[in-house]
Amino acid sequence: MLLEEQRFLHEDLERLEQGISDRVAEDSRHIRDRLNRDHQIAGFLNRIQEQSKRLVDIYNDTEGLRTKEIQSISTGDPFDEFSKQMAEIKDFHKRYPNEPVENLERAYKRKAPGEGESATMEVDNMFTGEEAFGRFLDLTTIHEDYLNLQNIKRVSYLQYLTMFDNFGPPHMTLKRADKSTDAYFNYVGRLADYLESFMRRTRPLEDLDKLFTSVDQDFEKAWEENSVPGWGPDAQPVGPAAPKTEGTGEGVWCPDCEKEFKNDNVYKSHLSGKKHIKAAEARKAQRAANGTPNGETTNGHTNARGSTLQRLKERAIAEREYRVKRLASMMETVRTDTRVNVERKQGMTERERQLELDAMFAESAEAPNRNGDDESDSDGDEKIYNPLKLPLAWDGKPIPYWLYKLHGLGVEFPCEICGNFVYMGRRAFDKHFNEARHIYGLKCLGITNTTLFREITGIEDALKLWDKITRDKKKEKAGGENIVQMEDADGNVMPEKVYYDLQKQGGGLAASITYSPLIHAEAPPDSGDSNTPKIRLAEVHQHGRDAETKWVTKGTRVYDITDWIPGHPGGEVILRAVGGAIDQYWNIFSIHKKQEVYDILESYYIGDVDPQDLVDGQVPVDHVEDPFKNDPKRDEKLMVLTTRPCNAESPEEELGSWCTPNETFYVRNHMWVPEASVGNHKLVIELPDGEEKEYTLEDLKANFQEVKITATLQCSGNRRKHMTQEARSANGLQWGVGAISNAEWKGVRLRDLLADAGLNLNDLPEDAKHAQFIGAEAYGASIPIEKAVDKRGDVLLAYEMNGQPLPPDHGYPMRVLVPGTVAARSVKWVKRIVVSEEESTSQWQRRDYKCFGPNVGAPQAKWDEAPAIQEMPVQSAITSLRNISCHSATDRKLLQVYGLEEDSVAVEGYAWSGGGRKIVRVDISADDGKNWHQAELLLDESLGSKAWAWQRWRWLIPRWQAGRCFVVKAVDEANNVQPAEVGRRHMGT
Ligand code: MTE
Repeated sequence: MLLEEQRFLHEDLERLEQGISDRVAEDSRHIRDRLNRDHQIAGFLNRIQEQSKRLVDIYNDTEGLRTKEIQSISTGDPFDEFSKQMAEIKDFHKRYPNEPVENLERAYKRKAPGEGESATMEVDNMFTGEEAFGRFLDLTTIHEDYLNLQNIKRVSYLQYLTMFDNFGPPHMTLKRADKSTDAYFNYVGRLADYLESFMRRTRPLEDLDKLFTSVDQDFEKAWEENSVPGWGPDAQPVGPAAPKTEGTGEGVWCPDCEKEFKNDNVYKSHLSGKKHIKAAEARKAQRAANGTPNGETTNGHTNARGSTLQRLKERAIAEREYRVKRLASMMETVRTDTRVNVERKQGMTERERQLELDAMFAESAEAPNRNGDDESDSDGDEKIYNPLKLPLAWDGKPIPYWLYKLHGLGVEFPCEICGNFVYMGRRAFDKHFNEARHIYGLKCLGITNTTLFREITGIEDALKLWDKITRDKKKEKAGGENIVQMEDADGNVMPEKVYYDLQKQGGGLAASITYSPLIHAEAPPDSGDSNTPKIRLAEVHQHGRDAETKWVTKGTRVYDITDWIPGHPGGEVILRAVGGAIDQYWNIFSIHKKQEVYDILESYYIGDVDPQDLVDGQVPVDHVEDPFKNDPKRDEKLMVLTTRPCNAESPEEELGSWCTPNETFYVRNHMWVPEASVGNHKLVIELPDGEEKEYTLEDLKANFQEVKITATLQCSGNRRKHMTQEARSANGLQWGVGAISNAEWKGVRLRDLLADAGLNLNDLPEDAKHAQFIGAEAYGASIPIEKAVDKRGDVLLAYEMNGQPLPPDHGYPMRVLVPGTVAARSVKWVKRIVVSEEESTSQWQRRDYKCFGPNVGAPQAKWDEAPAIQEMPVQSAITSLRNISCHSATDRKLLQVYGLEEDSVAVEGYAWSGGGRKIVRVDISADDGKNWHQAELLLDESLGSKAWAWQRWRWLIPRWQAGRCFVVKAVDEANNVQPAEVGRRHMGT
C-alpha cells in the first residue's frame, strides 16, 4: 500500500500545483476575491509542504517497508498480491461503510461561476465591517482601551490613528513609571496582537513568521545595546543636579517629571514647583524600592532582585511597544488609507455609513457572478448604463428618475478642485467637501488643513487662501504670537488673519465661505486726491470720548461721527472707537457689511490720514485699540474653540460634578469682555412710558430680597459637532457636549426690580410685551414679559455664582439669569433693561437663535417669520465611560450597589430640559439603540421654583454585555423625548 500512497501523494501534489496555477492565473477584481484566493493558495502551499515531507519519508524508506513492497509485487504471482490488496480494501470499506471518499479532482479545482461556489468565503468571517476586507485598520476597541488608561491625554480616534505607535512625549503622556501597570501591558499587547493578526489576515502569502522573528531579533539587539527609545537603563541622577537632555533633544529634560523644558530658566523655575517636588519624591521612593544605584537601600539583595524584576517587566512592555512601532511602519499605506476613510466617514450620517457597509457586503457577495470579460480593472468599477446622466447613489448606481426630479438634482455644481467633477444637487455638493475626492484634490494642491476651505471650489481661490494662511502662520510663528481664532457674526470660526483678510477681500471669497445673503461692501479706497484734507493722527486722538466732536479713522479715511452717535443702532459701543481706528469693531458686526451702512459712514467723511503718519501706506498698529484688552486669563482646562472672542467648552471631566466650578464653566462671548468695576456699573430700567430708574449693585443688595437658585445654562449650539457628524453639517462653532454647565446663582428677582421701577405687575400696560436686556459691550436679547414677571419664573439679576462674585467672563458685576431658557437670553454685564412693546432689535434676537425646517438652508431662511428660541427642548449626553474592575476594592463597592459582580462599564452624563420641566427618565442603550434600559437618576440639591438644573445620571452594565455604541435619550415631565434622528435645522451660535 505504500506504493499506492506514494502515487497518491504525487497526484495530490500535481493537483495542488494545478490548483495554485489556476488561481494565480485568474484576475480577481474584488479585494475579497483576491484575499480569498491568496488564503486558499496559502492553504495549498502548506499542504504541499506536508505532502512533500511525507513523500520524502517514503523515498527515504528508513524502515525498508517500500523495498519490501516492491519485492513482493515483483516476485511471485502478481495476481496473488493484487487479490490480497483488493481483499484488504474491501474489508476496510466493510468496516467503515460511511467513510467519505475524497474527490481530489474536485477538491482543489477552481469553481467557475454557477458551479456551486459557496456564497460565503473564508475571508468573510475574518474582517470587521470597518476593516473592509483588509483595506483599513479597525482600532476602535483598542482606542477605547487606550482612553480607559489612567493619566492619558484624551485623543479622538483620528488623532489616535496618527499617534498610536508613538509611546513617548509629547504624544504619550504616560510616564515610564505609569507604564508598568497591567492595564498598560495588556493594552500594548492587544495592540501588537491586533497588528500581527491584521498582517496575517491580509498577507497570507508572505513569510510573516520570518518577518516577526527578525523584529524580535532586532529588539533583542536594541535591548542589549540599551537603545530602545524611552527604555534606557534608568541611571540618571536623582534631583535637580546635572539635568540631562532627552525628549526631542532641544530642551532640558527633567527625569523626575519626564518632561522637556524649553530652556534652562523654565527648567530651573519648575524645580521649586509642587508638581516637581512630588514627582521627585515619588521617583526617589521607586528607585529605593527597585534598588537602583541612587536608591538608599538597606537590603542590597532584595533590591537587586526587585530591580531585575522591574527590568524584566519593562522589557516585556518595551518589546510590545517595539513590535507595534515596527509593524505600524510596515503598514503605513493602510494606516493613511484608514485615516482618510475615517475622516470621510465622519462627514457621513449613521444611515449613510450603514448603507455603505451593506453595499460593500452586497457587492462582494455579487462579485463571483460578475461577467469575467469586464474591462475595468479597478475595484468595483463597473460600467453603468446611465443615458440620462442621473447622479449616482451610494451604491454607484443611478438613482431613480423620480427621486432625481423630486430633489431637483438637475442643478449642477462643478468643483474645480475635484478635477471639474460636477455634483448634482446641493446636498451632494455640500457633502463632497468632506469626501475623499475633494480632500485629495486639496492635498494635491499642497493644502493640508482642509477645514477652512469649505465652499471653495476654485483652485485659484483655494491657493490664494492657503497662501495667505501659510504666510500668516509663518509671521505669527516668527513673532512668537499665539494663534488667535476669530468668530464672525455668522458664527464662522477662523484664524484672526484670515478673518480680516476675508473682510477685506469681500465679494467672492467671503460670500462663498459664509453663504451670507448680505452684499459685502467696501468703503471707497483713499481717493489719492491731493486736494482732500490731510489730518494728523494726533489730531484724531484729540477727538475722543470727552471731546465735543468725535472722530474715527477707518482704513486711511477720517470721519466725524458726532451726529451719528445718538442714532447708532449699536448704541454707545461706538464710543469705544472714537479718537482712534474703528476697523477692529467694525469687522466684528456683520450688520456693517451692508452698502447702506458704509454709505452712512461715508456721509461723515472729513479727510484722509496724513501720509506722514502712515507706515507702509497704512495706519500704524499702535493707533488701533485692541477691543479684547480686558479679557481675563482663563483656566487651561477649558477647551477653547475660539480665543477672540472667547468661546470655550467645559471639559468632560468637569461636567461630572453637580455644580461646574467657575473656572471651568463654559464661556460663550460674542465680543470682548467689557471693562467693569462695581462702583461705575449702573443698571438702568426703562419702562414703556419712558420712565427710567438707575440702580447700583449696592442698591440691589441693600433693597431687595436675595434669592438663590441652581440653574443650568446651555448654549443653543451645544453638541452641534454631533449634529454635523450625524445629521448634516451645521454652520457655527462646533461645540461638543460641554457648551452647558450648572451653577448656584445668587441675586435679586427681576420682577421685584421692575415693580420698584414703577411697572404695575398686577395690571401690565398693553405695550409691556418684552423685557429687553442690553450688555455693556452691546450684546442684546429679550424675553417675553410673562417670563420676566412670573413669580415662579425665577428670572434674576445675578451677582454671585457658586458663592463667588461673578467672574469677568460670566458677567461681572451682574448678569441676567433666565433659568429654563436658552442661555443666549441671560445677558451678561447687563447695563440696561427696557420694557417694550417689541423684542430686542439685536441680531442675536432677530437673526440668530432660530429654528427652521430641515429643507431650509441659510439662504432661504425667513428670519423675520421664525420665532426666537426661548425655552429649550430636552437634551442629554454621555460625559464619561469608565471601566469598573471587580478586582478593585472601591469599584467593587459600586458594583454591589448595582448588584453586579463582574467587570463592568459605568456610563454617566447629564440630562436637561427647558422651561423647568423635570427629567423623569433617562433611557440608555449599550448596543446602538437596539435594547434600552433606565439609568439611575442621581440625587442633587436643587434650588428654585422649578427644575432649572440638570439631572445627572449613571448606569452600569457588565463589560461582556456592552456593545460598541452607547446611546442616551432623556424624557421630561411633559413626556418630551429626544428624537432618534436629527430632523431639523437649528441656527444659532
Ligand atoms: N451676554 C453678553 N453681554 N454677551 C454675550 O456674548 N452670550 C450669550 C449669553 N449672554 C453673551 C451674553 C450666550 S450666546 C450664552 S450661551 C451665554 O451668555 C453664555 O454664558 P456664559 O459665558 O456665562 O456661560
